[in-house]
Amino acid sequence: MTTPLLLDVDVLRSAIQEEYAEVAACPLKGFHFHTGRFLADRLGYPAERIDQLPEPVVESFAGVGNPFSWDDLKPGETVVDLGSGAGFDTVLAAQMAGPAGRVIGVDMTPAMLAKARQNAELLGLNNVELRESYLEELPVADATADVIISNGVINLCPDKATVLAEAFRVLKPGGRLQIADIIVAKAVPDSAKQDIGLWTG
Ligand SMILES: C[S@@+](CC[C@H](N)C(=O)[O-])C[C@H]1O[C@@H](n2cnc3c(N)ncnc32)[C@H](O)[C@@H]1O
Repeated sequence: MTTPLLLDVDVLRSAIQEEYAEVAACPLKGFHFHTGRFLADRLGYPAERIDQLPEPVVESFAGVGNPFSWDDLKPGETVVDLGSGAGFDTVLAAQMAGPAGRVIGVDMTPAMLAKARQNAELLGLNNVELRESYLEELPVADATADVIISNGVINLCPDKATVLAEAFRVLKPGGRLQIADIIVAKAVPDSAKQDIGLWTG
């Protein structure tokens, strides 16, 4: 049985937006998680793939893994990036999907979306679209995506079942999930679930 969440979801979302607006605006400030090129190297993104990206594309990366470590995406695929942040994985996905494919990034933090748009423009990518929304109500039609990617986001969502149900609604039959996230092997204590500082990290 799951314990009801006593945390106010709107308060939690505001705290997360505040934290990640800061990651967009001041990526070098120093956070209690790694960011940028150092993080991408640590997570095993190929150096030659990162070297060709301008610094604004890389500096606000804040993922926890590499969704492309299972496999690259295929030319022509339609991709949805859940919690696209400043667009690091979004632009890599757009480069892999190529002009015949497209990537829809969804995020709730306006500062991250603005930076992701600038980053797609910087690389001249016409196959990227950024949409502002909560992942719990994806602004994407049923059976749109060949693949859903996400990196370090679902752990920030209290209602993970709804996020995953939305992901499966948006996936085409036979589509796939390439998600990097945090998994805990032990039950999280209720005191930790009420601690906004732990959620936003
Ligand atoms: C840790 S960052 C990761 C961003 C990006 N995936 C990356 O790897 O750099 C988490 C992102 O998820 C977004 N986010 C968190 N909860 C969300 C929700 N419920 N709906 C939409 N976006 C959310 C935040 O705004 C933030 O941009």
